[in-house]
Amino acid sequence: MVRLKSREQIEAIQKGGRIIAEIFENARDWVKPAISTLELDRWIADCIRKKGGRSAFKGYRGYPAETCISTNEEVVHGIPSSRRLEEGDIVGIDIGVKIQGYYADGAFTFPVGKISSKKKRLLEVTRAALYEGIGQIKPGNRIGDISSAIQRHVEKHGYSVVKTLFGHGTGEFLHEEPIIPNFGKERQGEKLREGMVLAIEPMVNQGGSEVRVLPNKWTVVTKDGSLSAHFEHTIAILDGKATILTSLLPEEREYLGG
Ligand code: MF3
Ligand code: CO
Repeated sequence: MVRLKSREQIEAIQKGGRIIAEIFENARDWVKPAISTLELDRWIADCIRKKGGRSAFKGYRGYPAETCISTNEEVVHGIPSSRRLEEGDIVGIDIGVKIQGYYADGAFTFPVGKISSKKKRLLEVTRAALYEGIGQIKPGNRIGDISSAIQRHVEKHGYSVVKTLFGHGTGEFLHEEPIIPNFGKERQGEKLREGMVLAIEPMVNQGGSEVRVLPNKWTVVTKDGSLSAHFEHTIAILDGKATILTSLLPEEREYLGG
């Protein structure tokens, strides 16, 4: 069952979305060589709390940290640790916020210092794939239109999409129906309609699409050890169009100097 949201519910989800967006705006100053992923996790947890929210991930199915931080060949669900970032790494940060009873979910992959042009391209293609997917969100289109747009963009550039992890509905629970694969066929699946709130999250590997889970039971890595990137937005269908809830209004962006 897809849980359609009212305007008021969507506004509550957007409060969490803005917190996530603001953290990503400021994260550029924190994602630097020598910081540990646990220090990053602590900083983000503080930001969430100061703004009146709480982490949606901590305790979710026993997840042990406030955020997921995944470096290089880690795809998603990296557990923050004493590992220090190094110049040339890429680092995916995934943040879920619960505020006023509602959830928002977002992720961004950052370069650490100067990175190679190959890595830069992986980040650009993955981010663009997210926006290709978002571009398909309108009433009357189907989930398969989002999925196929993402897959097409990724494969056109010689990368692969992960096939065992998905985007999802969100709002009253972190994970709701429908599931949103990053691969599929146009015109297939559930019809998109007013009031849907969707978390779209392409996970893109430089090499093969296969992944495995580390013995810590959480961290997903590429099987072939190739790099992986991940971007995610929470989007609502409101007044017949897609609104990205995990982004700042232009005036908020200016205020932060972004
Ligand atoms: N954003 C991810 C997702 O939507 C992370 C959640 S996993 C968690 O699946 F356990 F850390 F919460
Ligand atoms: Co998600």
